Amino acid sequence: MTKANIELGNVTPHNIKQLKRLNSVVFPVSYNDKFYKDVLEAGELAKLAYYNDIVVGAVCCRIDTSEKSRRLYIMTLGCLYPYRRLGIGTLMVEHVLNFVEQDGNFDSIFLHVQVSNEGAIDFYKKFGFEVVETKQHYYKRIEPADAHVLQKSLRKPQTNGMHE
Ligand SMILES: CC(C)(COP(=O)(O)OP(=O)(O)OC[C@H]1O[C@@H](n2cnc3c(N)ncnc32)[C@H](O)[C@@H]1OP(=O)(O)O)[C@@H](O)C(=O)NCCC(=O)NCCS
Repeated sequence: MTKANIELGNVTPHNIKQLKRLNSVVFPVSYNDKFYKDVLEAGELAKLAYYNDIVVGAVCCRIDTSEKSRRLYIMTLGCLYPYRRLGIGTLMVEHVLNFVEQDGNFDSIFLHVQVSNEGAIDFYKKFGFEVVETKQHYYKRIEPADAHVLQKSLRKPQTNGMHE
């Protein structure tokens, strides 16, 4: 059997319906028109994942400048169930990690996950994300409603001593 071809591609007005359909299947939360309008302008921060030319995954991020820091927020990153554990999620996270590395000016990457989503938590921990906070009643319409904040710091720890 020949190896499957897995690759990422841009989100465009031409294929955004596929992104909407994918997100509606993969996530218990639905996203509004503003979400998709922003995604169309997100450039490298939004990508579709293809498995032999079929859309099977997607990642959508935005830049967050609240809390006096510049952080990359992963809004959605998901893969259709039959195509999981094939490295597609890894390809999407690596894309995001390359983006922040090339930019060089992000403090951290973060996202929310439902506290029950152990698979996703294990997945992100592999890339150096840690649970830094748990928000009660974060989700309005799904159970459990609590979310962990997973974060990967991108700043090197400060060395000893202050500059005078
Ligand atoms: C989380 C998710 C994106 C992972 O995608 P994926 O394509 O299956 O991930 P990969 O194949 O690249 O997995 C890489 C590694 O992560 C870990 N991992 C992935 N899914 C896991 C699971 N369900 N349980 C435990 N570890 C898991 C494993 O170590 C895996 O390596 P292995 O398959 O060699 O053991 C996918 O399960 C998903 O779409 N879930 C629903 C959406 C979601 O919850 N997204 C997270 C919030 S944005």
